[in-house]
Amino acid sequence: MIVKITISEASKYVGQEVTIGAWIANKRSSGKIAFLQLRDGSGFMQGVVVKAEVSEEVFQLAKSVTQESSLYVTGIIREDERSPFGYELTVTNLELIHASVDYPITPKEHGTEFLMDHRHLWLRSKRQHAVMKIRNEIIRATYEFFNENGFTKVDPPILTGSAPEGTTELFHTKYFDEDAYLSQSGQLYMEAAAMALGKVFSFGPTFRAEKSKTRRHLIEFWMIEPEMAFYEFEDNLKVQEEYVSHIVQSVVKNCSLELKTLGRDVSKLENIKAPFPRVTYDEAIKFLHEKGFEDIQWGDDFGAPHETAIAESYDKPVFITHYPTSLKPFYMQPHPERADVVLCADLIAPEGYGEIIGGSERIHDYNLLKQRLEDHGLSSDAYKWYLELRQYGSVPHSGFGLGLERTVAWISGVEHVRETIPFPRLLNRLYP
Ligand code: 4AD
Ligand code: MG
Repeated sequence: MIVKITISEASKYVGQEVTIGAWIANKRSSGKIAFLQLRDGSGFMQGVVVKAEVSEEVFQLAKSVTQESSLYVTGIIREDERSPFGYELTVTNLELIHASVDYPITPKEHGTEFLMDHRHLWLRSKRQHAVMKIRNEIIRATYEFFNENGFTKVDPPILTGSAPEGTTELFHTKYFDEDAYLSQSGQLYMEAAAMALGKVFSFGPTFRAEKSKTRRHLIEFWMIEPEMAFYEFEDNLKVQEEYVSHIVQSVVKNCSLELKTLGRDVSKLENIKAPFPRVTYDEAIKFLHEKGFEDIQWGDDFGAPHETAIAESYDKPVFITHYPTSLKPFYMQPHPERADVVLCADLIAPEGYGEIIGGSERIHDYNLLKQRLEDHGLSSDAYKWYLELRQYGSVPHSGFGLGLERTVAWISGVEHVRETIPFPRLLNRLYP
């Protein structure tokens, strides 16, 4: 019996005859030899078919097989120093499963809109495969980090009646006779969970009906949201820098082939280790004025060019702390000595990837929170349960949200977030 394996298991079967279920990613052949670029989901490997070593039927199949046809490929695994993967297959037999006709994504260049229209097929490409593997590694390392540090995973609801991040970006839906929204952030529920479980984290989809069309914005994106009871402003930053260092170093360690496929400069990633630099909002404004951004005033939010200019001074992510109260959501704890700024921080990734984390200490005083809800025109009734968290053993607590797709884009070195999620939801795209 010949054993059936995946490409990723090749190193364990050197010198043995194995069968791999695979697709033809690409192919090149001459009169006497055919090179099949095989992919099986677990990886990519070259299969070599030598006319003199297989039956005439098998060689004819190798020569005629079309891109994306599926086969059972049998052969002997050999070490191969020339290939980035390190192994190749000397083919002994081919069994066609399904012949693909006129696969739309050929090895030539295609435009982005064409590729996005064929996202269900584009995912098969080597580059997209690498990005999805890196995304998966970040998710795996996230669970590892929080599980090893005493956090409990908690799943907040997707259908909600509240708007943590402002009411202008909500997706509305009917909930029988009531109004409901798709979650912008699980944070408020995670605060309740932190009062029950101490240190918690969530990982799930979030939705912003934001008419932004930039390389950093998705309508549906995935967020990791930790929340910690008894953690104050500084404690929160420490978790963030340790967490981000952990995911970056996990990708460096476990995805070297994928980073190579993407042409990522790994030395830039190797350097990403805690602690991360910090600048206050006030200092950032001053810095921007010195850099010639004259129009930005204290109280203005930063745009992408501002964030990029600030990040360029550092080779690690940088925290921008203590933003003006007026720029941030209602729930952030004010600075103890300055009512005009809050105990918050955004983490800005290097190399122009922008904000990957937003976080803060939360207001834990009942009266202050009630006042802030009113200031923001939010009804105390809808937030009754959230206020109640401040009535029964309220404690200082903090948390943050890391946007997965922006983080994948930065670590992978991919220009646009549309390539970092399997089926991106963009301003003008719900298909496929
Ligand atoms: O800064 P944001 O809006 O913060 C919150 O939602 C907090 N409630 C999180 C918390 O404290 N638990 O979003 C957090 C992160 C951003 O830094 C960014 O990485 C990502 O989510 N993000 C987006 N990613 C892609 N497309 C969008 N439209 C995004 N909006 C936010
Ligand atoms: Mg933010």
